[in-house]
Amino acid sequence: MLILAIESSCDETSVAVIKESKVLSNVISTQLFHKKYGGVVPELASRAHLESIISILDESLKEAGCSISEIDAIAVTSMPGLVGSLIVGSNFAKGLSIKYGKPVVPVNHIEGHLFSGCLEDSSLQFPFISLVVSGGHTALFYVESYIKYSLIGSTIDDAAGESFDKVASLLGLPYPGGPEIDKLSQSGKAEAYNFPRPMLQKEDDFNFSFSGLKTSVRYFLKNEFPNGIPENLKPDLSASFQEAVVDVLVRKALNAVNKYKTKNLIVAGGVSANTRLRKKMSDTAKTAGIKLVIPQLDYCMDNAAMIGFLAEKKISFHGLAVFDKLDFTVSPNALRAAKKIKNIN
Ligand code: KG4
Ligand code: ZN
Repeated sequence: MLILAIESSCDETSVAVIKESKVLSNVISTQLFHKKYGGVVPELASRAHLESIISILDESLKEAGCSISEIDAIAVTSMPGLVGSLIVGSNFAKGLSIKYGKPVVPVNHIEGHLFSGCLEDSSLQFPFISLVVSGGHTALFYVESYIKYSLIGSTIDDAAGESFDKVASLLGLPYPGGPEIDKLSQSGKAEAYNFPRPMLQKEDDFNFSFSGLKTSVRYFLKNEFPNGIPENLKPDLSASFQEAVVDVLVRKALNAVNKYKTKNLIVAGGVSANTRLRKKMSDTAKTAGIKLVIPQLDYCMDNAAMIGFLAEKKISFHGLAVFDKLDFTVSPNALRAAKKIKNIN
């Protein structure tokens, strides 16, 4: 089975080729120009996807050493994300489908992240807990199989990545702020400032809240440094904020593993690239005897490989015939709806 996968939900255009759960190519192009606007500009993002998607497809096929006619199915991210960006990817997939007569498998982007640890390490056993931490989502899932999982908690306000980006902006750092805070923190002291660790009172509450933490940093900066934040204090401020987020993520993931009596854990999504999170999560997992999988950086950020990998699993469960329709639509938010129905496939 050869799958061509397309991801364009936000500001990464990516095309991958997957064969029997192995990644033959995973070309990712990040739209760096959003930096100057301090965040992703949706209209510009969709235009840039349009401009680059054909050359990224060509590059991905070339790297994989195959042609479209050899492909068995096309996988594409259909939700959640920026609507304009999703439309570019899904319409491109539909166009290829009509031209080459291939079925299309629509894939939920969050599902892609939540199973990306299985792409990284095929020895990981069900059931497991998956923590998805990205710019748009922070959620914990109890996962029983590729088609059965439950959302056990999610953020009630800002996502973890969003809080990194917003606090970075308060510190005068460029967008995206997560990697900037990560970098600065390496020369800072995490214990220099004590910022709050929200929502840790109850061990069986798996929801998150990062908006209060961001506000607390904002008022602290405003009161302490009314004339501007001294450059030399930014590493300590970054490290202290980062430690608060990491503490919450690690504790919640550990609580979920204990409550659901599993010893397997995936941490995925853009924020899982964070150096301190990776270190603290692995130390904690080692002490607790947990098998932890945090994907390599190319599978943490938005990428088409995770979309193709999951599409292959869906095909092996449902068969190819059910994916012959092109009437699926894109949707900006899947997680809020998922909260209501608990199990999402
Ligand atoms: O998964 P992703 O690439 O896109 C979404 O689906 O949102 O995640 C992007 C988020 C951004 O908020 C970015 O600041 C954050 O991931 N991020 C990081 C790091 N690298 C990316 N946050 C903290 N530390 C990092 N090293
Ligand atoms: Zn993502």
